[in-house]
Amino acid sequence: MKQIVSFDQYRREYERSIQDPEDFWAEVAADYQWSRKWDTVLDWNFTEPSIKWFEGGYCNLAENCLDRHLDKRGEQVAIIWEPNESSEAYRTLTYRELHEQTCRFANVLKKLGVKKGDRVCIYLPMIPEAAVAMLACARIGAIHSVVFAGFSATSLVNRMNDSECSLLITADAVFRGKKKIELKKIADEALEQTPSIKHCIVYNHRNTEINFDEGRDHWWYDLMREESSEHAAEPMEAEAPLFILYTSGSTGKPKGLLHTTGGYMVFAGYTFSNVFNYREEEVFFCTADVGWVTGHTYLVYGPLLNGATTVMFEGIPTYPDHGRFWEVVDKHQVNIFYTAPTAIRSLETYGTEIFQTKKLDSLRILGTVGEPINEEAWQWYHEYVGKKKCPIVDTWWQTETGGILISPIATVTPLKPSFATFPLPGIQPVLLDGSGKEIEGNGVSGYLCLRFPWPGMARTIYSDHTHFRQTYFSAYKGYYFTGDGCKKDEEGYYRITGRIDDVINVSGHRIGTGEIEDVIDEHQVVVESAVVGYPHDIKGQGLYAFVICNETALTDDKLRLEIQSLVAEKIGAFARPDKIQIVPGLPKTRSGKIMRRILRKIAEGDTSNLGDTSTLLDPAIVDRIKESAL
Ligand code: PRX
Repeated sequence: MKQIVSFDQYRREYERSIQDPEDFWAEVAADYQWSRKWDTVLDWNFTEPSIKWFEGGYCNLAENCLDRHLDKRGEQVAIIWEPNESSEAYRTLTYRELHEQTCRFANVLKKLGVKKGDRVCIYLPMIPEAAVAMLACARIGAIHSVVFAGFSATSLVNRMNDSECSLLITADAVFRGKKKIELKKIADEALEQTPSIKHCIVYNHRNTEINFDEGRDHWWYDLMREESSEHAAEPMEAEAPLFILYTSGSTGKPKGLLHTTGGYMVFAGYTFSNVFNYREEEVFFCTADVGWVTGHTYLVYGPLLNGATTVMFEGIPTYPDHGRFWEVVDKHQVNIFYTAPTAIRSLETYGTEIFQTKKLDSLRILGTVGEPINEEAWQWYHEYVGKKKCPIVDTWWQTETGGILISPIATVTPLKPSFATFPLPGIQPVLLDGSGKEIEGNGVSGYLCLRFPWPGMARTIYSDHTHFRQTYFSAYKGYYFTGDGCKKDEEGYYRITGRIDDVINVSGHRIGTGEIEDVIDEHQVVVESAVVGYPHDIKGQGLYAFVICNETALTDDKLRLEIQSLVAEKIGAFARPDKIQIVPGLPKTRSGKIMRRILRKIAEGDTSNLGDTSTLLDPAIVDRIKESAL
């Protein structure tokens, strides 16, 4: 894969990619194995919208991740699996072993009747089998929908039903730190409400006793044992659906973003190689869970497309102690380390003594993703982890974008702490003002949009193209709207300032306020609620819920606890509000709209200037909320 090695070259490549995008991406795509070459590189409009890359071309993503490497690096390690317990042995799978497992599992899926285009739900912990399952789906042309193992039964039900999955893959249980999560139990609860699921494959990970429905459930190993390790990958049309990944928006239920095969492959491989300046045989450690898009693109597909060794870590950064990430880095001689700012901020609170016992001398490149990184955390990461010699790439992207769009290119781009710096080649960001006019020049800020497609972008929301159009292509005609605010400094460096819609980024997890409000409102005594974000030292943003309730015999504390557990039960523990204030009313306009701007100010503890409150139905309510603010 051709790599950018100097800033001048970046500028030239960037220019070229804008002048002639089709030529640029065709050259990148030529690095991969296609069973039939494309007829057209790109066909698009942002009105319907319709985005098609490499039409007429056929390829298989799993084949490009695995088979393509077998001759050259069959015996090289593809995945290093680091377990939750540091005392337990780690596992490795070479490219040949991963290929073999994937082929076997592809045969298993076919045996169970899974066909091209069928949806398969993967609800697994961070174990290599998650990658095997994803790759096997890609190999036979089934669409995978990975659900993060921290989601509740209700969330799992909603996701499986939305895309009518026919098969679920899960495990008995997993430990994360000291906490045991009984995944099969959660899955069983979900499976009572998912009529489309015909089979459930269970990986025995922790030898936990589980309920086993003979008609529906199958043990992973029993199935694998019977299948051959030979499987010819299915040639897939470039625009064939590859995966669905659910993410939160500002309104309603999570949306199933759909990514397709050829474009995603080209984009994942290109961005991985360039952003991280990946070199042959290096070890790459991305700490994200496979349940999020970062896990898809930069733990599984991007590294494997490049023949890298990727580390999959099952545990948490603070178990058995807060030096665990660094222990893993030293143990596996990690060269490139990619994590979320929230993890850095949380480890920062433990001090720096731990570094005396860690070498970290294998590290060459560091990266961050998921939320803005504050300068202090950046400096700490740079000094203690990178020993002031590793460039940090602050990578901006989204579930919708499939891969990184704005980021430094490691060793190439001059860095500026807390800036995602510049768009990658092929990416055409613009800042728009409220009226949708492009804001030119430097030293400006606005709404971040993209005016031209890139191969990795989502093509639709599964079974709801209208929603896709409305969410991303209606706010500003002719543009993809990201939902993020952005500043460009005097030198043209981009800095992403955060969401401008009602999406809150908690510890790098994207949570829609509407989703949490719907759950809180389900509580018997709750009349109405409003959730906003507020600055949180570790999590980036915390969740602050304002709740109106009926006359109730419950104490406020009891009610708070009940709301917390309701959210954990319906969504997942990570979505529990940090603060819950019981209020007599909410600030509403005469037309009944909640003025969130005011609630945000109160949640931030900044009530000196609440702006214009004259349009409120009952301005006095604001003072009452202020008085009891938490
Ligand atoms: O607000 C931006 C923030 O995360 C959002 C996307 O979230 P999600 O789809 O869950 O994907 C996260 C992993 C790619 C964006 O709209 N975000 C992501 N990366 C950055 C960021 N904000 C600032 N700086 C970043 N580097």
